[in-house]
Amino acid sequence: MGVWLGVALVAFVLIIVFLLIKQLFWNAQLKNVKNKHVVITGGSSGIGKHVAIIAAKHGANVTIIARDIQRLEATKNEILHACENKDVQRVEYLSLDIGANYENVEKAVADLERTMGPIYMLVNCAGTAICGKIEDTTLDSLNKMININFLGAYYCIKAVAQRMKASREGMIVLTSSQAAMLGIFGYSAYCSTKFALRGLAESIAMELQPYNVSVTLCLPPDTDTPGFAAEELSKPLETRLISQAAKLVTPDVVADKLFKDALAGKFFSTVGFEGFILTTVCSGMSPFSSICELLLQASLMGFLRIVSAFYLISFQKIILNCMKMRNENKKSE
Ligand SMILES: NC(=O)c1ccc[n+]([C@@H]2O[C@H](COP(=O)([O-])OP(=O)(O)OC[C@H]3O[C@@H](n4cnc5c(N)ncnc54)[C@H](OP(=O)(O)O)[C@@H]3O)[C@@H](O)[C@H]2O)c1
Ligand SMILES: *[C@@H]1O[C@H](CO)[C@@H](O)[C@H](O)[C@H]1NC(C)=O
Ligand SMILES: *[C@@H]1O[C@H](CO)[C@@H](O)[C@H](O)[C@H]1NC(C)=O
Repeated sequence: MGVWLGVALVAFVLIIVFLLIKQLFWNAQLKNVKNKHVVITGGSSGIGKHVAIIAAKHGANVTIIARDIQRLEATKNEILHACENKDVQRVEYLSLDIGANYENVEKAVADLERTMGPIYMLVNCAGTAICGKIEDTTLDSLNKMININFLGAYYCIKAVAQRMKASREGMIVLTSSQAAMLGIFGYSAYCSTKFALRGLAESIAMELQPYNVSVTLCLPPDTDTPGFAAEELSKPLETRLISQAAKLVTPDVVADKLFKDALAGKFFSTVGFEGFILTTVCSGMSPFSSICELLLQASLMGFLRIVSAFYLISFQKIILNCMKMRNENKKSE
């Protein structure tokens, strides 16, 4: 009896190891962006800028969208330098506030397709993070994040979906966050908009899949970008300490993985061990990209749920400690 239990356990572990290796090292058939039009919102900075550079290296015609013209112009030149073949590739920029008004976005995207060709890949990277406890979050910050993070992505996707479906090819990437998998102290507004992107991605994945259009949800950890530096300024101590559970990554690593996962048609795109753990434990009713991935998630979820409890308890401890410290400081004043 004991022997068979042992054999079953070893077999189970071996299967998981096999699935892990296959998942990590097996590359699905990759799509190709050479001579195709790739559009990146938020392409003038951070993760989006690195995605634009990678697309140019792969031979795509690239358009970056953001508001600040000076930064767009400077980044455009950087992207031009990265082009695989400068004589045939085109790089353009479009100055547009994607979250302000749908009609503007629709018109700008239609004009862009006329001048630069049909959009084959849309990468939504524009986004912003302002932290603060719910009582400290101004309605202005809340509206800003809803407009840029959620409505901006919704508008751009809505503006391209019909034509992508009609051409029976295309890729849409939404840049959400690891904070779309769990709520975090100090992120009530930011997390809400990033959770919303997950609902959007899962819904359109179901709508577009029959039309050969793939959807990828990128979930970056803390990434060393100008946006992250700005976010640090508003971060409560608790949020900073909780975030330290994961280490800071560079934007080129996130962009590289985002691009590869999108070309492979994967739904989730994450970097690092924490990213893998988080998407596995939260996979629930999300789309799966392969049987291998499904089996891996199914066999690890229960155990990882217990691991998640240790993280949650450590976060609660951080919050209680900060509260005590503040109370003591108040008393000593
Ligand atoms: N960095 C991180 O730690 C991290 C972690 C998780 C998720 N993310 C997400 O990843 C994405 C990229 O982050 P990042 O840190 O690379 O950002 P970033 O350096 O702040 O760059 C943001 C980009 O979005 C553009 N943008 C902002 N508002 C816009 C608007 N209304 N219309 C059009 N463009 C707009 C910005 O240009 P203009 O200001 O000129 O418009 C800029 O090009 C964001 O969605 C962010 O939430 C980042
Ligand atoms: C990319 O730009 C070149 C011109 O430089 C053009 O010949 C080609 O058709 C463009 N590709 C798309 C998909 O529009
Ligand atoms: C799906 O799109 C890819 C390019 O993204 C293309 O190579 C393939 O032929 C398309 N398949 C169908 C059935 O249209």
